[in-house]
Amino acid sequence: MPGDMPAPYLPRHVAIIMDGNGRWAQQRRRPRMIGHRAGARAVNRSIDFCLERGIAALTLFAFSSENWGRPQEEVDALMKLFLGALDREVDELDRRGVRVRFIGERSRFAAGIAQRMENAERRTAGNAAMALNIAASYGGRQDIAHAARQLAEQVAAGTLAPEQVDEQALSRHVALADLPAPDLFIRTGGDTRISNFLLWQLAYTELWFTDVLWPDVDAGLLQQALDDYARRERRFGLTSAQVATAPTESNSQ
Ligand code: FPP
Repeated sequence: MPGDMPAPYLPRHVAIIMDGNGRWAQQRRRPRMIGHRAGARAVNRSIDFCLERGIAALTLFAFSSENWGRPQEEVDALMKLFLGALDREVDELDRRGVRVRFIGERSRFAAGIAQRMENAERRTAGNAAMALNIAASYGGRQDIAHAARQLAEQVAAGTLAPEQVDEQALSRHVALADLPAPDLFIRTGGDTRISNFLLWQLAYTELWFTDVLWPDVDAGLLQQALDDYARRERRFGLTSAQVATAPTESNSQ
């Protein structure tokens, strides 16, 4: 949303890497899936929190392109968990005005799951209270490569000149191009990496890390992240004085 000024204190778009489910289960000497199930409850708490605070978009990293390499048993169980959550939650999300979208390689999912993703998207497409984006089989580099390929196809077809391939053009073709870029990125579980999540979109995002494991996330912790965010000054490459007097674009600078 170029031209739009970020609300100074409340992030419009929050992106989260939900890490630590496995360790949460391990600490309790339980199977990893117990951690993922507890993680699904933390997903619900986070959605509630963002809706209550009036955050316009929430993007969750549910499953990376690399996660396909986990033991087959865990991948299968995760797919079952996603399906169950989709079936259970989509009515309620729809009722609350949430627009659900999935980003990532849809074609890698079994037909039944891909179909349900599509149904959830279609069903909630007209909602505007909050955009909930689930990154599933998603990778940031793949997202950028896909955008580059689309531009290359336009150049090859003669509908785009090579000199029109610039940041703005690429921004229009990466995932979530219609939303403001994330203002705040949160990663739980103690690692301080971006792990191939929304690489393009996070260029100017405020990063916030916590050791808390994802299943333990609650409104109190999310509020801490928002409070820290509100204290930070976002300069988009300008000086403090410039930012104080001349609001600038948020998405691509
Ligand atoms: C990372 O923890 C978490 C995942 C790979 C899966 C995320 C899934 C959920 C939060 C469950 C439900 C989600 C939805 C959208 C309904 P990890 O397994 O890497 O934890 P570890 O680093 O402690 O092993």
